Amino acid sequence: MPTAKKPAGATHRDLESVLITETAIRRRIKKLGAEIMAAYGDEPITVISIINGAILFTADLLRQIDNPIRLDCIRISSYRNETKSVGKPQLIHSLTLDVSNRHVLLIDDILDTGKTLSLVAELIRRLNPTSLRVCVLLDKRGRREVPFEADFVGFKIPDRFVVGYGLDFAERYRNLPCIGVLKPHLQNPPEWA
Ligand code: IMP
Ligand code: MG
Repeated sequence: MPTAKKPAGATHRDLESVLITETAIRRRIKKLGAEIMAAYGDEPITVISIINGAILFTADLLRQIDNPIRLDCIRISSYRNETKSVGKPQLIHSLTLDVSNRHVLLIDDILDTGKTLSLVAELIRRLNPTSLRVCVLLDKRGRREVPFEADFVGFKIPDRFVVGYGLDFAERYRNLPCIGVLKPHLQNPPEWA
């Protein structure tokens, strides 16, 4: 069956603007994969992905890396009230793979206040990995409440609440192929709830 092509620049109707296009994400992830391979050489990597947000990014990034990979996921409770940070993150599903004496690469969708990644990094360090590096797709550097830097960063972005490509607003919009800013009337309160 013939399929209608989307017009160039078409975006999801709930977005006010697209910050990072699908093409830009794809290109950057290819380069990130090369950066990561250069950093690890031939070493095997144990990847830990923070779900749900990092699912799409992890899936695409891992396909750009040739090293032997073991994959595990960790779940952290959302401590957010829609777009704002309201408390402390908590571990709600821990690792199943052993990470001691392994090179660990921790992956998240976005580094914002730094609370989530500093908690998870501390948990992993206690398990005695050979090394621990952190990769995030997005970095909102201006929002840090806890000092934390990632070793690999896809894009630095301004202080805007973004959705798409794994990032959600109240669990929606993770499936958008691009990353964008929601229209203001959809952020507070959600009209579709
Ligand atoms: P942090 O603990 O404040 O660094 O935030 C990390 C988590 O908050 C991420 O893993 C995301 O799930 C969520 N988050 C932070 N900023 C955004 C955003 O702009 N859109 C969607 N989720 C976000
Ligand atoms: Mg989230």
